[in-house]
Formats: sequence, structure tokens, C-alpha cells
Amino acid sequence: MIIPGSASQSLAAALATELDEPLASVEYESFADGELLARAPDVSGERAVVVAATDSARAHVELLQLQEVADRHFAEVVTVIPYMGYARQDQAFRDGEPVSARAVARAVSTGTDRVLTVNPHEPGVCDFFTVPCGAVDAAPMLAEPLPSLDDPLFLAPDEGATALAETVRDSYGGGETDHFVKERNYDTGEVSMTPAAAETAGRDVVLVDDIIATGGTMSSAISQLADPREVFVTCVHPMLAKNARTRLATAGVTAVYGTDTLERPVSSVSAAPAIAERL
Ligand code: R5P
Repeated sequence: MIIPGSASQSLAAALATELDEPLASVEYESFADGELLARAPDVSGERAVVVAATDSARAHVELLQLQEVADRHFAEVVTVIPYMGYARQDQAFRDGEPVSARAVARAVSTGTDRVLTVNPHEPGVCDFFTVPCGAVDAAPMLAEPLPSLDDPLFLAPDEGATALAETVRDSYGGGETDHFVKERNYDTGEVSMTPAAAETAGRDVVLVDDIIATGGTMSSAISQLADPREVFVTCVHPMLAKNARTRLATAGVTAVYGTDTLERPVSSVSAAPAIAERL
């Protein structure tokens, strides 16, 4: 049985269809003091698959509640975290900071037999869980919505995203890849980008990253492109916080594509088939 968190209802439904398993009808309520109550009545069976993106503190608590219900009514509990919040804080960048990814991974591990997460920023976060954890790769699907491209260049905004850009290029079926050199000042939050070496004039450029949060990285990258034909932006996790979508539009992006690890208007690609293969 698939048990959805409130932020992952579409993906959970797609997963239920993909696996031909029942979808639990969960009620998401809050008490007057703001405390949450995620209620999954009439659930039982062999295996529960709790599917919940943890993109907020409330989503983390909701996931723990759903795991607790599942633990009492199913023989096995699998937790799918399509987007793992706090995964980018996978080390203490400054003195006194927490390794937040480890803290949340430990908490989630207490209510499950195993975990799957999708394209974590660093695969090493899987090691923070105290139960088996696997990373699902949804990047090959990111090529699906792309139109027919003219002399395409698949660009990663930093070296760390190069493998993603290559994956999307391979799925698309051809094109060049390159990456920018990005440096982030952790004190000021400012990002500086050194332009990629590849020619961009007159070409279709597809920028590929694991996540778009504020849109700052992508906007800076786009501002460095010399006279591209059209610019497309694709990512696994379309967080699109605050005015990120507007920033991308202002930067001149033709279209933005993301997966449903975070359910946003641009989530045109479902990660469900890739997750289902690992369940
Ligand atoms: C960092 O290295 C990530 O891959 C993303 O590039 C970054 O987190 C995106 O954040 P933002 O959209 O706020 O620049």
C-alpha cells in the first residue's frame, strides 16, 4: 500500500498506478496550536510505502507520523523521500553548524526498514541513515519534455552537476556538454560563475542541475551565455523558492522542466517509474 505525505500526493498516486498497489486515503489536519495530525485510517498489509518529500519542517513531522502508523499496521515499512530536505547541509560548513542531513536521516531511520531517495545532492547522505538507503536516478527522464533542439549544448552550472548534464544529453540522444566553474561564499551567500568554455552563440542551451532553489545559480549561469538561440532549464528538484520562477523568466528562459519529487507547475516529468523499479 502506498501512503502519501501531503506534499507528494501526485507522485504517490503515480507510484500506486505504476506498482498496481492501493493508495491510502490520508487526512492531513492541524490542531489549534499548529501541531499536525496525519491520519491514515483503515490501513494494513504486508508492505507500506510511505512517500513524502521533506521540503519543510512540517513535512518532516508528517513523515514521522505516517511512519509510526505504518509501523503498527504493516510487516514492512519502506520510506520514499522524493526530495530530501536539509540534504545540502551534509557537513558543518562553519564552526558550530549541525550536519542537518545526518540529524534528519537518523530520525527517519527510526520508523522504517529501508529508505529510497531521489538524486540527493551528495550520494553520501545515504550513509547518514541507520537503515539501508538507496539513491534513485531520475535524471534520464529529464530529456523527455525537451523539444527538438538545434546544435544543443547541455550545460551544468558547476562541475558537480556535469554527470547530470551528460545523463540528460545521453537520454536526449546527442549534443555537447560543458560546465561552469561556480564558487559560493558561505558567509555572504553570493555565487560567482566563471563562463563555460563551449561556444553558445546561435545554439540551443539546456542547463541541467539537481535542484533550483532561489534560481540564483541558474540566473547567473544564463547571464554568462553569449547570444544563445533558446535557453531551457531542467532539474530533478524544482524547489523554485520565492521568486525563482520569475527570475528564470526574466533571465530569458524559454521553458523550465522538473520532476514531481517536488510538486510544482513545472513538474512535467514523473519520477514514479524510476522509483518503482527500486521497490
Ligand atoms: C548546489 O551546488 C546545487 O547543485 C544547486 O546549484 C543550488 O543549490 C541551487 O540553488 P539556488 O537556486 O538557490 O542557486
